[in-house]
Amino acid sequence: MKAGNLQIRPDGRLRHFLSTEGLTRELLTEILDSAESFAGVTEQSVKKVPLLRGKTIVNLFFEASTRTRTTFELAAKRLSADVLNINVNASATTKGETLLDTLRNLQAMHIDMFVVRHADSGTAHFIARHVQPHVSVINAGDGRHAHPTQAMLDMFTIRREKGADFGRLTVAIVGDMAHSRVARSQIHALNLLNTGDVRIVAPRTLIPAHVESLGVRVFHDLREGLRDADVVIMLRLQRERMLGALLPSEHEYYRLYGLTEEKLSIAKPDVTVMHPGPINRGVEMDSQVADGPQSVILQQVTYGIAVRMAVMSMAMQQNTTQEANAQT
Ligand code: NCD
Repeated sequence: MKAGNLQIRPDGRLRHFLSTEGLTRELLTEILDSAESFAGVTEQSVKKVPLLRGKTIVNLFFEASTRTRTTFELAAKRLSADVLNINVNASATTKGETLLDTLRNLQAMHIDMFVVRHADSGTAHFIARHVQPHVSVINAGDGRHAHPTQAMLDMFTIRREKGADFGRLTVAIVGDMAHSRVARSQIHALNLLNTGDVRIVAPRTLIPAHVESLGVRVFHDLREGLRDADVVIMLRLQRERMLGALLPSEHEYYRLYGLTEEKLSIAKPDVTVMHPGPINRGVEMDSQVADGPQSVILQQVTYGIAVRMAVMSMAMQQNTTQEANAQT
């Protein structure tokens, strides 16, 4: 599912944001730099800039979400766009036709951008292939495939905590890699940013085949995987995506892979702990760690707004420039 050509304009600018796979290091860095300036905006008492005034953005969510949907909504509002939230409960089998119909109807209302979340992998790409030329699509999570804005807010958090030189960093991603769109997007982004050592730590049943081809080192023992890590990213156990019994029990999972203060002490003393949320306390991690001094879990949420502002404004930039040129 290569998104590269679809999401990049002929002049190298962002058209859609569907996946971190196939992007360039320059584009990722541009997103992070632009988010840095928007982080300043969101910290002011007046949090709005007029960049997307007059634009209409639709949050098209076919799957439940709180954090991601609200931060996309806030990001759009802080860019002065008009936002519509549409939550659709659609079954996968009826997808094809209803999806195109929904799309056509919304486009008839002169929409400029779709932010899409769907339980099926590939939905955002499908929509991107069918929208009008001036419309941009942002993937807010598709099945177990990709969640690129989450990955970028994670990269932003790492850069803020550890500086821009990813080459000297060891990042351990711990947990349900098999079902995680977040992990996949993170790995592509970490590779593009030349991260020194990217590790996956999980039981054999929660690691997809051929994961090493993504350029990561695989560990089945949490203590080994945590050794000297600069950043630990915990993943949620994605029960809703597990078809069979892949785990003996949550208690057993916690015993082997749950992050406690004691296990965390194997990582570097200044280790940063991250989690995309929602956290299952007492399953992936202890509350002491989730709420502890190393945790930046709530900062991730805050940064998500600035990163989404960056991605939205970059994808719309070309349209805005074209219109401005047309008017002069
Ligand atoms: C993630 C998601 O929905 O993919 N959460 C999020 O976007 N904040 C991760 C998860 O659900 O575990």
